[in-house]
Amino acid sequence: MSAMDLVYNLLVVLHLLGMAAVVGGWIAVRNGRTVIAPIVWGARAQLVTGLALVGIASAIKDDDHTVDTTKIAVKLVIALVVLVAAEIGTARGRRGQDTGNLLDVAGGAAVVNVLVAVLW
Ligand code: HEM
Repeated sequence: MSAMDLVYNLLVVLHLLGMAAVVGGWIAVRNGRTVIAPIVWGARAQLVTGLALVGIASAIKDDDHTVDTTKIAVKLVIALVVLVAAEIGTARGRRGQDTGNLLDVAGGAAVVNVLVAVLW
């Protein structure tokens, strides 16, 4: 395994842990409305690690690292929905305002992105 493969695979690990933070955080507070910190940090991590993975994959460009542009575009849009909902939700929570359904939007959209990642 080349050094770049190692970096790539470690980014996949961080990508999976970020997913665990968002989805696990959502499940943990499922009956509440508070967007807790792990959800926000996980949502940020998904964007950063996801974009880095795409960058490295397009640089390596062998049979193990292909980039499906349409799939990535869809994942990017959904990840932005997760992030915006999490950021607005946590900011409102800090101010003691109602967070509406932002928690469920963030958690639900993250699950949709897992489905896109695995089933597409
Ligand atoms: C909430 C946001 C996200 C979630 C929950 C998520 C979830 C996942 C999961 C579960 C996998 C593993 C799939 C598998 O190994 O079969 C994966 C892989 C991947 N994701 Fe995401 N993702 C998110 C956002 C993004 C974004 C924004 C990008 C890029 C712009 C991205 C790019 C990728 C890439 C390139 C892989 C392939 C890694 C590999 O080579 O196995 N993801 N994602």
